[in-house]
Amino acid sequence: MTKFQCFYIAFLLSVAGVVFGGSTNPGKSDKLILCVVDGRGSYKKSVKFCPILEQKSNIECVIGVDRLDCVRRIHKGSAHFGVFSAEDLVAARWASTEILVTNEMRFHDTNFEYEIVAVVDNEADIHSAHDLKGSRLCHPGNGLEGHWSDVLGSYLENVMVQKTCDESISITEDRFRSASKFFGPSCKAGPWVPDPIQDRLLKSRYPSLCQMCYNPFRCDIGDKHWGRRGTLYCLTSGGGDVSWARLDDVKSHFGFSGLKAEANPDEYSFLCPDGHLQPLNATQPCVWVSKPWPAIAARRSHAAFIQELVMKLSHDDQMSWDNALLSLLESYHVKIQPLDNTIPIDDYLDQAVGFQSAYSFPECNPPRSIVFCTTNIIQHIKCSWLQEAAQVHGIVPNIQCIRGTDLDHCMDDTMYKTADVVLVDQDSRVRAQRDYKLEPLLFEFSKEMHDRYVTVAITHEGKRVDSFDDLYNSKVCLPSHEGAAYVSVVQAIKDLSSRKYISLKNYFSDNSCTWQPNGSGNCKDDYRGDLGALQCLIDGRGDVAFLSSDVFKNFTMGLLDYPWAKKASYKNYRLFCPYGKNERSTRFEYCHLHWTARGHIMVHNATLIRKNEIHNSLRDMDRLFGKDIKTNTLPFTMYGPFDRKSNVIFHDNTENLKNIGDLMKDSAPRLMESSFEKYSQEPKPSETSSSRINKPLGYFSLFSMLILLFVNI
Ligand SMILES: *[C@@H]1O[C@H](CO)[C@@H](O)[C@H](O)[C@H]1NC(C)=O
Ligand SMILES: *[C@@H]1O[C@H](CO)[C@@H](O)[C@H](O)[C@H]1NC(C)=O
Ligand SMILES: *[C@@H]1O[C@H](CO)[C@@H](O)[C@H](O)[C@H]1NC(C)=O
Ligand SMILES: *[C@@H]1O[C@H](CO)[C@@H](O)[C@H](O)[C@H]1NC(C)=O
Repeated sequence: MTKFQCFYIAFLLSVAGVVFGGSTNPGKSDKLILCVVDGRGSYKKSVKFCPILEQKSNIECVIGVDRLDCVRRIHKGSAHFGVFSAEDLVAARWASTEILVTNEMRFHDTNFEYEIVAVVDNEADIHSAHDLKGSRLCHPGNGLEGHWSDVLGSYLENVMVQKTCDESISITEDRFRSASKFFGPSCKAGPWVPDPIQDRLLKSRYPSLCQMCYNPFRCDIGDKHWGRRGTLYCLTSGGGDVSWARLDDVKSHFGFSGLKAEANPDEYSFLCPDGHLQPLNATQPCVWVSKPWPAIAARRSHAAFIQELVMKLSHDDQMSWDNALLSLLESYHVKIQPLDNTIPIDDYLDQAVGFQSAYSFPECNPPRSIVFCTTNIIQHIKCSWLQEAAQVHGIVPNIQCIRGTDLDHCMDDTMYKTADVVLVDQDSRVRAQRDYKLEPLLFEFSKEMHDRYVTVAITHEGKRVDSFDDLYNSKVCLPSHEGAAYVSVVQAIKDLSSRKYISLKNYFSDNSCTWQPNGSGNCKDDYRGDLGALQCLIDGRGDVAFLSSDVFKNFTMGLLDYPWAKKASYKNYRLFCPYGKNERSTRFEYCHLHWTARGHIMVHNATLIRKNEIHNSLRDMDRLFGKDIKTNTLPFTMYGPFDRKSNVIFHDNTENLKNIGDLMKDSAPRLMESSFEKYSQEPKPSETSSSRINKPLGYFSLFSMLILLFVNI
């Protein structure tokens, strides 16, 4: 990240502080406010301890959505302190002018959470870092979770190995290819990329990086040479020359922490970053990179007070506010250590050798970042935080956020490749694909059907409709021109009507609310949108309405708080099931026409390699910041409120991102994807003469997307 970007983010934050009313006068009450992030499971610490704190002390809790949410609250002054991981602090440092680190949360009595060293075999003829070229590297590998970070894990390769930035391969592949050229036969087991097929493919291209594994063909998690101790077994009994390992593991492996030695320490040495060797029994081993402990960070104005306060806490009295506060601060049993002084985040992180530089290796030029187009300031700020969070978790290539004035501007930028990615909803999908030549890459997915966009047909109770053609020439209420419901009906005409080649406009009465491409229509504006289509039906303006299932559901439950909805009874309306009733096995309560996702991530016509690279990075973010995550508290939340606003960029109800292949595996029938594809390839209705015969169009685009998923990295 460049200095300019940092200033820019800091600037955005200060703007956000003003625009969104962050309070910056903590002095207005003398209460101290702790920002708490609750764990995922059923057990919420805040429920148990915050009330005790509020009753018995002058401290109160605010509940942050995630840890970076707490950083923002402290920055803006709506909270005063909280507990953060070293990675959170890296993400926070650019915004941190007002935040100081006060206390370390140590798990045991060492200066750092862990330190990473390089151990070489004395026979390997390695006397300086340069001699590592061609050496046999033992690496803990990937997929270790906790206690070992990917960013620190790849530190040695990043220092030693030059990326080529070759545009014909992905950045990820570039890393493995460069490492395989630099090092000799090595072991780096575990998943190289999340997708197993792509993982296999990469490993078959660069087999030397698996050659020293116990099972070079599997090269996977659980290999004898995989993991924290595996890297040392690879060195001492597997024939490796150099091992990248945690210092504490080295000590126990070589018998310096009371346990029996697995190998003779005299035969190995530490290789120092400055090039000299040290015996393994050195009192001050040379460390390449170390990881700071989690820490309490506080607003500058309260930092000294909080540092002192925290040191006085104890668990002695279970009912005391002391105990409550301590329990909220600790994640597991910890020793709280004051710093000599309250210090800025940068100074705190700089105490750990190599740590900050692990996050600032040079990027390729021209940059390979994924330019994400956002349409307003709050989206832009969330996007920038996502970028920070992705950066500290080592996702490459990372996103870079730009701001367009509106969706059309963003789609235009994406078409002309100033941006790579834009997120559109189901009703803008046709425009994105047909008018701006964009392709869908990933979709926002929810298990719950009402959180997807599901088109249902509603008619008046008395109207007799037995087959789809009974709707011919009737008045229809549609939410929008060429939105999801519209395209769904076009598909239904093709599938179910004897007049299958007729356009939607010519199928229904001229007096319908089908809207016009130029925005005008013969219906009042109140009838636009899914709620509008329902109102259109209820007002008697139409015979049938096609709209989203969640709106109809709320209507039947009396949850629509509008005069027109209140005066109507749902008993006077009924579902029409043009495709028949649902099969027993589907758990959805309504028969429906088609379904689609509410968010479509669209990209321009890029190379297959580039599309896969974007796909993989976004899936990595989904894996780390989405809802499938297993860890206790999230660093950042992609799907959930952001600064107390709902549905910023992504929908709060989204569960994860899926590609077309995953969507097609869903059990709900009639995914709209092929309908969108076909509709987008047809000429615009405004350009067609009436009752034009449409030729059936191919599935080429859908087919090519499926290929994309299986072929390349
Ligand atoms: C390290 O081990 C060597 C050889 O076993 C010994 O001579 C030396 O005194 C030891 N150094 C320390 C600091 O223990
Ligand atoms: C929109 O298109 C319709 C039908 O093509 C036409 O009658 C109407 O005048 C147009 N309205 C505007 C504002 O261009
Ligand atoms: C349906 O009702 C729920 C509960 O009041 C509300 O959260 C949701 O936004 C409503 N959805 C629509 C589409 O009106
Ligand atoms: C995409 O780009 C390739 C190469 O630049 C070109 O041949 C192809 O026609 C483009 N496809 C579309 C749909 O624009």
